[in-house]
Amino acid sequence: MAVESGAGDAARETLAHLYFGKDDAENDAAAGGLLRQGFLKTVAYESARDGRKTLIIGRKGSGKSAICMMLARADDPALSVSVINPDEISGEEIRGFTLPGITAEQAKSMIWRYVLTMQTAKFVLTHATQAHRGGSWSSINSLRKFLVANGELDDLGIHEKFWRVIERIKSSISLEAFGVKVAAEIAAPSPGIKVNNTLDAIDHHVKAALADLACPRNHSRLLLLVDQLEKVWSNDADSDAMVTGLLLASKHIASTFDPVNCVVFLRSDIYDLLEFQDSDKFRGAEMRIDWRREALLDLVQVRAQISAGAQLSPEHLWAGLFPEKFGELSITDYIVSRTLMRPRDIIQFCNLCRDTAEKNGHFSIIHSDIAEAAVQYSSWKLQDLVNEYRVNYPYLGDLFVLFQSTGYVVSRDSLHRKLSTIAATLRTRYAQYTNVFHVDGVLDILYDIGFLGVVRNDAATYAYDDPLRIERHEAQFLIHPCFREALQSVSSVDVRPYEATDLRIRVLAERGLAVHSIGLVRGRRSSRLRREVRNLCDNVLESIEASRLPSEVKTEVVRSLQRIDSDAAVLLDDWVEETGWTLARDVVMRARRYFQELDEKLDSLCLLNDRDEVGRVVRQAVKTLDSLVLRPW
Ligand SMILES: Nc1ncnc2c1ncn2[C@@H]1O[C@H](COP(=O)(O)OP(=O)(O)OP(=O)(O)O)[C@@H](O)[C@H]1O
Ligand SMILES: [Mg+2]
Repeated sequence: MAVESGAGDAARETLAHLYFGKDDAENDAAAGGLLRQGFLKTVAYESARDGRKTLIIGRKGSGKSAICMMLARADDPALSVSVINPDEISGEEIRGFTLPGITAEQAKSMIWRYVLTMQTAKFVLTHATQAHRGGSWSSINSLRKFLVANGELDDLGIHEKFWRVIERIKSSISLEAFGVKVAAEIAAPSPGIKVNNTLDAIDHHVKAALADLACPRNHSRLLLLVDQLEKVWSNDADSDAMVTGLLLASKHIASTFDPVNCVVFLRSDIYDLLEFQDSDKFRGAEMRIDWRREALLDLVQVRAQISAGAQLSPEHLWAGLFPEKFGELSITDYIVSRTLMRPRDIIQFCNLCRDTAEKNGHFSIIHSDIAEAAVQYSSWKLQDLVNEYRVNYPYLGDLFVLFQSTGYVVSRDSLHRKLSTIAATLRTRYAQYTNVFHVDGVLDILYDIGFLGVVRNDAATYAYDDPLRIERHEAQFLIHPCFREALQSVSSVDVRPYEATDLRIRVLAERGLAVHSIGLVRGRRSSRLRREVRNLCDNVLESIEASRLPSEVKTEVVRSLQRIDSDAAVLLDDWVEETGWTLARDVVMRARRYFQELDEKLDSLCLLNDRDEVGRVVRQAVKTLDSLVLRPW
């Protein structure tokens, strides 16, 4: 007894400490978070650090900021890092910034050039002080004077608010520090060209300072990281110009200053909407953050160990603290299947499972805790998806109504039919997006954002498995598992399953008998009934298996068929006919209800094609069961 309570206490203690970290890198890297100890060095991290890739693209929650935070904290004497986050309040100013004489994109590029060059200038000064002590160069001195004159602090970790930068660019950038002549010479036919010339002049002096320092190869490099662009982005031409302006500026900075690399972190939805002339020149710089099952599981395992103790093995986590299986899936498959392959998803879901278990007073996370957490998590994910795409696809919330309280398997035809009922309303409500509200447009978007997967070769494929578009001939889709609970679409075709009953107990109750007194009195009529029920189940099974229905549907139907068959077997084989009959009738009636609903749903969901026999066979089953009910007993 004492041992048991000791073990219970230990389990409770482990669960109490178990924690998977905070939702976003900024908080997760601060005290109380787990990013610093639990960071996994991914390919995207290494590529950004080495400057091999300068455009890191990822979905919300995929770990863009985590890479920035960890690069900024990298304990590497050969690397100085400056993270640049545009401030939200400057959004309007940045988007609205133009300069006469140059394009909107070039004007926005000037803002970025200024910010990135200032960080470079600060780096040069700091580096000169730290690594070239004793040296004195006039170029370094004028650079220092220039920064002071323009109100730039020499702290690499701080950059000016963007609205201030814009004010400075608009009024004037003081070049006096580089000599009166330089300042006077910046004349130009338009304000836009003047700013460009001013920035060229600054470049020239920063380069001169770098040339004077003549750093050997092993000296520190500067890594400029630009993150959180989404804070100042809204889906319009000015926002696009702001992003392309940044890409152009980052390229310019890296090609102008040898020891500098600039890496831009961008949300994939923003990048994918971007159309700009030189996009082909950025292909080689691009890297998409991509998470696979094993890496996500490593990520949570590491976090579990940091929080609950280094001795926590994967076995203990996944077969001790969590139950080994959830439904038919291993617990790890189940948990990963609930994510859109992003660290934030798995962290949130694991935390929620753990919190639910604690709330329910359990020592470890049990099946019902996970089921409960899955409902809450599902509604988070649905709401997060709406928020993630609020700017690009503001109508998502209205589209999701089409998927509420239905099966999670969706055919192109049934979606077409449902969409046509609300398309007119959507077109009126979202007049800017009228060209989207047709079945192909909607399917493309819902696939792209991970809400729907496509059934390919009998398996579900989601955008994170294959980011290419769905093909026009593809006809069957699935709602992603993480959204099903929130939409109350947890059955593949939304047919109430055939629930098995504990018939033995019911017979006993009816006859007032004890278990051992059930006799095996087999009669001719019951065997015939049994045979007929088995035959029709076999026929339906055969046609289901031969059909092109998605495996999720097949699995659910087969499960119901097995229950009907086993109920019929118990009832009709084992029991005295007279008693069994009322229950037999109940089995037959419920089986009939099941087949009838299945027929209707398969029909309304348009999941069958002409070659599929299922519809005919299921209707035949309904008829047979009808005749069984009517047969005199
Ligand atoms: N490589 C990693 N190793 C460990 N944890 C990670 C890693 N990448 C991301 N995370 C964790 O995943 C969560 C989400 O990451 P992060 O906040 O960086 O996403 P993001 O792409 O910046 O999202 P958003 O677009 O919303 O800003 C955070 O808790 C972060 O600490
Ligand atoms: Mg971020």
